[in-house]
Amino acid sequence: MNHFSIKDGELHAEDIPLSRIAEEVGTPVYVYSRATLERHARVFHEALEPVAAQSGRESLVAFAVKANPNLAVLKILSREGCGADVVSGGELVRALTAGMPAEKIVFSGVGKTRAELELGLEKHIGQFNIESSEEGRELAELAEAKGQLAQATLRINPDVDAKTHEKISTGRAENKFGIPLVRAREVFAELAGLPGLNLRGVSVHIGSQLLDLAPLETAFAKVGQLVADLRADGHQITHVDLGGGLGVPYKDGENPPSPAEYGAMVARVTQGWDVHLTFEPGRVIAGNAGILLTRIVRVKRGGNGPPFVIVDAAMNDLARPALYGAWHDFDAVRPTGERMTANIVGPICETGDTFASDRECDALQSGDLAVFRTAGAYGATMASSYNSRGFVPEVLVDKDQFAVVADRIPADAIMDAERVPDFLM
Ligand code: LLP
Repeated sequence: MNHFSIKDGELHAEDIPLSRIAEEVGTPVYVYSRATLERHARVFHEALEPVAAQSGRESLVAFAVKANPNLAVLKILSREGCGADVVSGGELVRALTAGMPAEKIVFSGVGKTRAELELGLEKHIGQFNIESSEEGRELAELAEAKGQLAQATLRINPDVDAKTHEKISTGRAENKFGIPLVRAREVFAELAGLPGLNLRGVSVHIGSQLLDLAPLETAFAKVGQLVADLRADGHQITHVDLGGGLGVPYKDGENPPSPAEYGAMVARVTQGWDVHLTFEPGRVIAGNAGILLTRIVRVKRGGNGPPFVIVDAAMNDLARPALYGAWHDFDAVRPTGERMTANIVGPICETGDTFASDRECDALQSGDLAVFRTAGAYGATMASSYNSRGFVPEVLVDKDQFAVVADRIPADAIMDAERVPDFLM
């Protein structure tokens, strides 16, 4: 469910016709809907009600900032009661700047630098998800030196195949993430004894865009067993972080489990755990809350195949199709009812800059506006300036008003940060 719909023959974001944004801000441009973000945050919170009923505790929903780090987006989610799952010092500062309370910030990531660990300590964040005994020892040392007690969980690798794209799968033994389950008790015992560290639980995240609950349930069951084993070893386990990963529908026929189904599964599997739970959803909150608005540069006749619809957005603006072969629905802003089959491509000088091949879509001509749907997560945040194209702006719509929430960063502004040194003069 989202708030991008056709009214009077034109696709709107809430009450704003997209052509107005294109005229005032230019294209390409990301457009987010406040109402959709709020709705998704509420639906996810509501889905966890059975968990609260069963455990007697409210869970923390820590939005995975990597999915959409825009400050306005974070502000909306913060107001909805979300915290933040961050994976870099940059994301940590964004979450705080957007007003997320430090105690609702969880720091994940396999390669936190010393400086990032120190920043987390200085800001007194709620939880570090430790990914190795090396990282745990370093964090303990830094915290002790500051006279602090770092709150932490140990991220485990449950060796479960999330059955998603291999590049966004994180929970198999060969992936770089977490501590293998077989070593978890040993590493936990080593770290739990360190001054400076309150190792109070475990965390897990097996991958993203999951369309089936079964791998999650398998992973969570393994976590449950580990919690019991750690308690048997004499540890106090009060916190478990179950990560993110719930998928969204990118195309017709794709039916990911609903947040309510996810919540019911979690309530069932975590029964009796007696812990405080954290979740790190990203895509399921932001995915359908954004689109990438683009203008057709021209339509070029194909060789043997369908015509090339060349759009002014490219793989540097929306990397998912080029990186993962991902599908994004592509629709005209003013559909006429006529259809065509086309190759949808960007202007970048490599064949990988293809959004869709042989795609049946609305008939489009040079100058028309179109959108890539479901671009609110892992869209703008993964942009680059490849081909010296600058960074796309972001717009937030709130009913009948909108604001630019990230400026376009033009190519010459990026060039301004470069220097030709004297020794080349
Ligand atoms: N927690 C951790 C530790 C993660 O690594 C991730 C995502 C999440 C939470 C949020 O997962 P979500 O709920 O959004 O599935 N760029 C890729 C997705 C990479 C996801 C990386 N980790 C894409 O465009 O599909």
